[in-house]
Amino acid sequence: MKKITAAISAVGKYVPEYILTNKELEKLVDTNDEWITSRTGIKERRILKGENKGTSFMAIKAAEEVLQKSKINPEEIDLVIVATATPDIMVASTAVYVATEIGATNAFGYDLQAACSSFLYGMSTAASYIESGRYKKVLLIGADKMSSIIDYTDRATCIIFGDGAGAALFEPDTEGLGLQDEYLRSDGAGREFLKIAAGGSILPASEDTLKNGQHFIHQEGKTVFKHAVSNMADVSEKMLTRNNLTKEDIQWLVPHQANKRIIEATANRVGLESDKVMMNIHRYGNTTSATLPLLLADYENQLKKGDNLIFAAFGGGFTWGSIYLKWAYNS
Ligand code: UT7
Repeated sequence: MKKITAAISAVGKYVPEYILTNKELEKLVDTNDEWITSRTGIKERRILKGENKGTSFMAIKAAEEVLQKSKINPEEIDLVIVATATPDIMVASTAVYVATEIGATNAFGYDLQAACSSFLYGMSTAASYIESGRYKKVLLIGADKMSSIIDYTDRATCIIFGDGAGAALFEPDTEGLGLQDEYLRSDGAGREFLKIAAGGSILPASEDTLKNGQHFIHQEGKTVFKHAVSNMADVSEKMLTRNNLTKEDIQWLVPHQANKRIIEATANRVGLESDKVMMNIHRYGNTTSATLPLLLADYENQLKKGDNLIFAAFGGGFTWGSIYLKWAYNS
């Protein structure tokens, strides 16, 4: 019997209509377009507006695009995973609600949280279920409404993050395509540098935490930047070396979109020119769990069956890693 690998068979995306530009941020905090563009590469980001719209709103739309493209019946889906750091509500998985709303009535669902590495870790999880032979259709969605946890008076964070969602369907493959190798890491020493302090079990929400703005995300940018640069580059290089790949073998680097300078440092380490590096940070900023699937959706037309893709991500926790995947279809 041929070995079962886990391939991505369809991708979809959703970004909200509202565009928050650097110019508009200049009115909110002491910053300017030149600084943001040169330090991060970001020109604009999308913000989800409207009452009662949470992460699931975007996740459902991205999932529906996958259903429409793949032409599968939602009842065939076995599992829905929502990778997110901003679930709709604290208890009751966003994925369960999404599964029901898209008509995946035979699926079970749960959320996966590893900050900006959530989708990368989710790829490993989705692929493992498929490789085991236990399930045939796993829908992995990366979605975050970062605007719900941003303090728009804090210039260290409000210029970086945006909202969005992307989704990928994982199915069994017998041609050797799909996920080939993974190298995932984490280090709890990083917890203090990128976090929401209140609202969890250590410091439940209270009048004081609200007054102190502890329900917002806080980041020590310089420290996170340093770790992100070295770790994303290290794991990407390791992925090439241990699979005996040269830069000529790689068609695409698929890096988490946190900062253009981090992406370029990673690409430089593995020797890839910019035309092999997926990038959309200028349009969406850092959408946390959505960056990787948004890249796949935006570049889908340029991807060919058999292309070698190297994914890399780094996020709060700290969490980071790299995945080597062979693309499975021509669109
Ligand atoms: O996705 C999860 C992981 N997250 C990341 O990977 C993000 C990693 N961090 C970063 O991308 C960068 O650290 C930031 C974009 C957040 C900040 O860039 P930086 O180059 O590290 O800036 P900095 O904090 O070292 O600040 C440099 C200067 C400072 O001024 P002085 O002290 O040199 O006079 C800041 O006060 O820039 C100033 N500054 C700003 N100026 C205009 C900081 N933020 C801003 C701002 N606008 N928004």
